[in-house]
Formats: sequence, structure tokens, C-alpha cells
Amino acid sequence: MSAYETIHVEQRERVTLITLDRPKALNALNAQVLAELLDALAAFDADEGQGCAVITGSEKAFAAGADIKEMSAMGFAEMYGSNHFSGWEQFARTRKPVIAAVAGYALGGGCELAMMCDFILAADTAQFGQPEIKLAVSPGMGGSQRLAHAVGKAKAMEMVLTGRMMGAEEAERAGLVSRIVPAADLVEEAVKTAATIAGMAPLAVLANKEMVNAAFEMPLAQGVQFERRLFNGLFGSDDQTEGMAAFVEKRPGQWKGK
Ligand code: CAA
Repeated sequence: MSAYETIHVEQRERVTLITLDRPKALNALNAQVLAELLDALAAFDADEGQGCAVITGSEKAFAAGADIKEMSAMGFAEMYGSNHFSGWEQFARTRKPVIAAVAGYALGGGCELAMMCDFILAADTAQFGQPEIKLAVSPGMGGSQRLAHAVGKAKAMEMVLTGRMMGAEEAERAGLVSRIVPAADLVEEAVKTAATIAGMAPLAVLANKEMVNAAFEMPLAQGVQFERRLFNGLFGSDDQTEGMAAFVEKRPGQWKGK
């Protein structure tokens, strides 16, 4: 797939910037958005010239949720039979880092998409919420789980049961976002952060991402062992030799990705 209709993809040196582009529907996530995002991310992951991706939306909305109009006519058999939303699991399996740059509404599936990314940079205008209960449903793209992991039971439970939105400052206090930046600087700051990551040794980037994610899947002792194995494994890379030599020689490292 080369020409996308619902997203815009741009490469800025080693950073892939993906912009959700369905303005009339506040970037609601339908089947086409999912297919295009998965295609763009697979190309990003496979491209040795790319090191980190940023996903963003518009000033008004990162994404206002799964597409309610697409879902409204669907019944249980169609939802369950097609395992609706399971395609998003592929998104979360992207190996290289993906940053969500969120301005405006990140609601329902939009909040869930942001949480599937490796971390969230929020504009001061960002609003996060899981309002699905107001539609007599629930989060369906991992929101009940990832929100509870990110902000703890009390806030997650209040948010999914009431559908109330959380602003950027509360989201930062609660640990949902890594940082808040002025809305006007959001994309540039996210690209700059992504460029820093994309400038690191590629195998170390994959390993660091993998081990932090393991913290959410494994008991502590097993996670610590997993970390040490990956750490030891990095000592088999040319880039480790180069990275330590470069430190001693007081010069920047030159990475081979090997
Ligand atoms: N799906 C489809 N269309 C949507 C949408 C969505 N999730 N959110 C907004 N839109 C559409 C609106 O229908 C409207 O289209 P029309 O002009 O054709 O009527 C357009 O985007 C602009 O929206 P509003 O006029 O409502 O804009 P607003 O500024 O008055 O309100 C808003 C903004 C508070 C975000 C409001 O649009 C809203 O509440 N949206 C729905 C939020 C929501 O419930 N999200 C959860 C969806 S379910 C889900 O995501 C399940 C899951 O876990 C995966």
C-alpha cells in the first residue's frame, strides 16, 4: 500500500512521522485507519534507515475513539466472530519505539491507541478518557488493562465507570504521559525526542524497549533475569565495543546496527 487516505506518513531523517488524517470524524479509528497504520508501521519496522516513529493527530483530536458509526450496526456474532479489534494487537507488536504525540481528544480507542505506543507526550490541550460506558459498552482495544497499569485502579476505575476525561496535568501526575509540552511545539518536540532515540545503537534500542515491556508481563525475578540476558547479549554486538571505545576516546559512537 503506498497511497494512504486516512493517514499521512513522512520521513524526517531516521524518524517516521505518522499523522492521523480523518478530520471530519475527529480521527475516529475505522477498519481503513487500522489497515493503513499497520501497513505503515510494518514498513517502518522493516526499514533499517528508520529508528523511531511518532504518531500524532490534529490540534483538536488525536483520535476521538473507534468509529461509532462503523460499529453501530454490528451485532455480537459479527464482533465475536471476526474478533473485532484484534488487529490492533499487531500494532502493539511493533519492535521499534513508537511515541504518541497527543493534542486534544484521545478518547476510547484514541486513548487506547496512545497507550499502545511506548510513551505519550501530551500537549497542554490533551484530554484522555474511556467514555465507552456512555455508549453502553466498554473499552475494547486494551484500555481497561493499560489504563489500570498506567494510572492504578482508583483512577482507571473512576474513568471507565464515569467516562470522565482527564486533562494533561492530571495525566502527567498520574503517570499516563511522560511530559507536557505547549500544543504549538508538540510535533516538533516529539520528532526531536524520536530523533534522539533513533540516534542510539539500534540493537540497544530494541533491547531496552523489550525489557521495559517485560516489566508489565513478568514477575520481578523473571523480569530481572530477562533484563540481564538481554544486557549480556548486547555484549555480543559490534556497537557495544564501539559505544564503550567512543566513551573512552571522548567522541560520538558510530553505529552499525550489528
Ligand atoms: N466515531 C465516529 N464519528 C465520530 C467519533 C467517533 N468515535 N467522534 C466524533 N465523531 C464525528 C462526529 O459524529 C461528528 O461527525 P458529523 O459532523 O458527521 O456529525 C464529527 O466527528 C465532529 O464531532 P462532534 O460534532 O461531536 O464534535 P464536538 O467538538 O462537539 O465533540 C467529542 C467532540 C466530545 C470528542 C465528541 O465527538 C464525542 O464525544 N465523540 C465520541 C467519543 C467516544 O465516545 N469515543 C469512544 C468510541 S467507542 C470506542 O472507542 C471503543 C473502543 O474501546 C475501541
